[in-house]
Amino acid sequence: MIMLAVESSCDETAVAVVRDGRTVLADAIASQADMHAVYGGVVPEIASRKHVEAIAGLTDLALSRAEVTKGDIDAVAVTYAPGLIGAVLVGVNYAKALAFGLNLPLVPVHHVRGHIAANYITHPDLEPPFVCLCVSGGTTAIVDVRTYTEMEVLGATRDDAAGECFDKAARVLGIGYPGGGPMDRLARGGDDGRYELPRAHVDGAPLDMSFSGLKTAVLNLAHNAQQKGEKLDLPGLAASFGAAVSGILVPRTMEAARRKGYGKVAVAGGVAANSRLRADLERACRESGDILYLPELKLCGDNGAMIGCQGYYEYLAGKRAGMDLNAFANRDI
Ligand code: KG4
Repeated sequence: MIMLAVESSCDETAVAVVRDGRTVLADAIASQADMHAVYGGVVPEIASRKHVEAIAGLTDLALSRAEVTKGDIDAVAVTYAPGLIGAVLVGVNYAKALAFGLNLPLVPVHHVRGHIAANYITHPDLEPPFVCLCVSGGTTAIVDVRTYTEMEVLGATRDDAAGECFDKAARVLGIGYPGGGPMDRLARGGDDGRYELPRAHVDGAPLDMSFSGLKTAVLNLAHNAQQKGEKLDLPGLAASFGAAVSGILVPRTMEAARRKGYGKVAVAGGVAANSRLRADLERACRESGDILYLPELKLCGDNGAMIGCQGYYEYLAGKRAGMDLNAFANRDI
């Protein structure tokens, strides 16, 4: 079964060709990150326009890399939510046109389900049920993945996403955009006990999280240092920050895993690339006896392969969209 998959929810345009859900024949990705870096964050209007420019060429590239033609495709999968609405709309309309023109089924895919599915590509043995920590620029949630298509959020951030928190902290420290990768690298040379940063909890909701206080603490540190003309220990701050984020995420993920008792924990999304988070989860799972599934680094960020993989399972479950498929900025998993 050959799935053509389209992803355009944020600042990566991606088109992939995936066979039987788990074999990636090609994944052509164009990142706009450099364009948005000038502004310190994604500019939605620019993102939409760049998706329009890239999407048809990427489709041709993906097909030629996969050595298939449009006639070989069995279905078209597309991210329909969540994301920047204008950006998601580009992919949705393009996929609709492709499916209509080629007379193929159209399969709508939730972006976060796609991130989770990246683990199926990296780990051919992985099957639900498992608990998955989903951490990206727009999402931070602990998800009960009961089957390939039945999921429930067990806990989530009440304010900022972890990736957004990395990006804002990096921006105020002048470390660059997107900030997660550079903060991660900087942290490797730093003392994680150098700064005391808040690790908030939500009263009465032990699996929920909050990152806004952590973000504000970094803002205040930067502001105070500037006022006093002092220099911050940037590697120390990056290391303390990474430890705080991981210190919020890991205990809650492990508590969710304990409650569910599946014995399997996965991680998904851009922040799943974070080396401190990966190391802390490895340690926690070793102690608890859970098997840990980490996506390979190239599948942590947005890509088309994960949409093709999840699209396959949605297809098997009978999920189809018509030509009235809409894009949504927010949608429950
Ligand atoms: O999954 P993704 O590419 O896009 C969304 O679906 O949101 O995630 C992007 C986020 C950004 O906030 C970026 O700073 C963060 O993932 N990120 C990282 C790392 N690499 C990317 N955060 C922490 N450590 C990293 N190594």
